[in-house]
Amino acid sequence: MRERPTPKNHEIKLGEEEFIVSKTDTSGKITYANRVFMEICGYSERELLGVQHNIIRHPDMPRAVFRLLWDTLKEKKEFFGFVKNLCKDGSYYWVFANVTPDIDNNGQVVGYYSVRRQPPISAIRTVEPIYQEMLRIEKSAGGIKQGIVKAQAYLQDLLAAKDTDYEKFALELYG
Ligand SMILES: Cc1cc2nc3c(=O)[nH]c(=O)nc-3n(C[C@H](O)[C@H](O)[C@H](O)COP(=O)(O)O)c2cc1C
Repeated sequence: MRERPTPKNHEIKLGEEEFIVSKTDTSGKITYANRVFMEICGYSERELLGVQHNIIRHPDMPRAVFRLLWDTLKEKKEFFGFVKNLCKDGSYYWVFANVTPDIDNNGQVVGYYSVRRQPPISAIRTVEPIYQEMLRIEKSAGGIKQGIVKAQAYLQDLLAAKDTDYEKFALELYG
């Protein structure tokens, strides 16, 4: 396996007019990356194409968020959410992501694509402690599966108390 960059406490921000775009096949391997994506994450096209999208997964991200992403995509629905990503040099960047199944004329999912923008600082401040608690739950659960289930339950309870779901919550925070 490729060696992961060591995370460092340096944030990179997208410009207001900038979008990160990528496409994957059905297994999550990258098939397209736009220039902004390459500039921000620091990987070249050659390093990204054919590689799993988790190449930029940040260790601060709870697994339960990606479970929600994939469960949503498997239902042929689009996902909206906040993701902290890891650059090649260990820096990080937050995005508000929209991930969508790419469906052909026969209704078959042929891949996925994603467009991401810079979230407002207020949204990051709200999401970060929630993700930190989910990560803590996952790490102390004694197993990966149990951890995801428990972190999902924590998120569900928190959102239910606000009478919302993750998608509505994310869209409202993005503003
Ligand atoms: C179109 C698309 C875009 C994705 N974008 C990201 C991303 O920006 N960052 C990320 O960590 N995972 C992203 N993922 C999810 C990864 O495929 C993966 O599930 C995640 O990084 C968790 O890694 P793991 O499955 O190895 O635990 C994306 C998936 C798809 C289908």
